Amino acid sequence: MDRLYDKNWLEIDFDFGGIQMSTSVFDTVCKRRSVKKFKSEMPSRTYIEKILEAATWAPNHRKTYPWRFSVLTGTSREQFGNALKQSIQEDVEINLLHKTAKSFSESKKPLTAPVIIVVWISSSMNDRILYEEDLLSGAAAIQNLMLAAHELQLGTIWRTGKWLNSNPVRDFFSLSSSDHILGFIYLGYPEEVPVRQKSISWEEITTWLE
Ligand SMILES: Cc1cc2nc3c(=O)[nH]c(=O)nc-3n(C[C@H](O)[C@H](O)[C@H](O)COP(=O)(O)O)c2cc1C
Repeated sequence: MDRLYDKNWLEIDFDFGGIQMSTSVFDTVCKRRSVKKFKSEMPSRTYIEKILEAATWAPNHRKTYPWRFSVLTGTSREQFGNALKQSIQEDVEINLLHKTAKSFSESKKPLTAPVIIVVWISSSMNDRILYEEDLLSGAAAIQNLMLAAHELQLGTIWRTGKWLNSNPVRDFFSLSSSDHILGFIYLGYPEEVPVRQKSISWEEITTWLE
């Protein structure tokens, strides 16, 4: 893919896979919405790779490159669903009645999108500042990833929840103690384009100091 930066810093032209795109960054940022319903159509491998590449352009301090990805498609989503189910069954805070219904619905959730990109950071928790920086960089990588997907007319939703870093989930991805999962990014072609929510006005939350 060629990236040609326009004189106007907001404009980036994409010549990607024969598709010419020219979208303002501002437009992409404002128009992206979390998608909950996806078509079963599989996004191309090339698109998924480009989305992952976009994530790795996130800022990170001290060249730690802390982001790690696991791409789930096909039956691996079912296996992931089973890890979620196990997490719920092992959760002592959930009562038995609720457990059965919840574990069933959660285990099926990964099948609602053709692709799930699991994002975690690999960072030593012994250095608190470094860990926080890596965590923040991880969030930036996820935003990059979602914006790149939107640019390619794909939808995403960032999912977390109580079992994000549960033992069954961590075991499923063979994570070590220095790994910390930040999100399950569901990816696919939107079945429904969500209605735009009103964003908070920046004036309300900004102070100017001179
Ligand atoms: C850190 C984080 C975790 C999230 N976890 C969930 C989640 O577990 N389930 C869910 O449905 N949405 C989740 N979301 C998506 C938000 O609900 C969504 O971004 C919000 O409703 C605003 O909608 P928008 O993304 O369309 O602007 C999460 C978003 C963030 C930033």
